Amino acid sequence: MMDWTDRHCRVFHRLMTRHARLYTEMLTTGAILRGDRARLLGFDTIEHPVALQLGGSDPRDLAACARIGEDFGYDEINLNVGCPSDRVKDGRFGACLMAEPEIVAQGVRAMKRAVGIPVTVKCRLGIDDQDPEIALDALARGVVDAGADALIVHARKAWLNGLSPKENRDIPPLDYDRVYRLKAAMPDVPIIINGGIADLAEARQHLLHVDGVMLGRAAYQEPWRLLGADPELFGEAAPHAAMKDVFAAMTPYIEDELARGTRLHSITRHFVGAFHGVPGARAFRRHLAENGVKPGAGVNVLRDAIALVEDRAVAPIAA
Ligand SMILES: Cc1cc2nc3c(=O)[nH]c(=O)nc-3n(C[C@H](O)[C@H](O)[C@H](O)COP(=O)(O)O)c2cc1C
Repeated sequence: MMDWTDRHCRVFHRLMTRHARLYTEMLTTGAILRGDRARLLGFDTIEHPVALQLGGSDPRDLAACARIGEDFGYDEINLNVGCPSDRVKDGRFGACLMAEPEIVAQGVRAMKRAVGIPVTVKCRLGIDDQDPEIALDALARGVVDAGADALIVHARKAWLNGLSPKENRDIPPLDYDRVYRLKAAMPDVPIIINGGIADLAEARQHLLHVDGVMLGRAAYQEPWRLLGADPELFGEAAPHAAMKDVFAAMTPYIEDELARGTRLHSITRHFVGAFHGVPGARAFRRHLAENGVKPGAGVNVLRDAIALVEDRAVAPIAA
């Protein structure tokens, strides 16, 4: 998620679930082709399985970036056809491509030719005055014919005229049934549902109808829920019993990053929602906010913040 997630966040999330697939924020083809690739695309091997999400529409650029992503070691290339921001609309990628399914299909075909890893698409139900019954089918059929390995559908339209990107994540109504109908019409295609899914109990309900569930804001804002993902969805124990154990496992990574010049706050900013309903959660947040940003802040700031929390006795509750 742009401006929210990054590689540090993915390491944190991976320490809570071995099986959930992690996605990068959208990276435009222009940034990858002309920018600092090591900074944009570098990641820690612990993050696997991890998908690289691309924003773009030129098939040659998409193919080149997919190949670069595969060479970096990503497990999947995902094309963004859902982001509604103006900047993205002007660059002709993101949600506006819902109106140009043939361009999206060409991009997918080019990426499939370029790489051996799965290529997937994340889209909306439609945009503006499109009829979602027609628009979603057209997009889905086009990309599946072009070789897409799975579709992730954010179960609401994007309104490109008049709503901000933030409003476009809440105001157009959710229509999960439309995604279920897509799955019924394309039973052989893996369909992953996204949008407004608050917890793992809701995720389980969706899994009765579709193949997968993507959590955006719930995963980021309430990361403690991820400790329930492996036991509740994948039938396996969580990698760590409690959030304090997650932080203990993360400490060597943080120390390495600090030694490389990363600032503590750029890692600990992802921990704001780590503790839920335990005494000391607020003191933890305050300690990190006040001290994590100080120049030269070290891992002791995190240790001191954790010491303010009584987390041990609390079993991870996910739903
Ligand atoms: C701050 C922010 C940044 C986002 N950036 C991306 C992005 O880079 N790529 C993408 O596919 N979706 C992005 N999204 C949308 C989410 O992936 C997701 O589709 C949307 O928030 C609905 O799902 P949720 O209710 O589980 O959050 C972003 C959402 C937020 C809140």
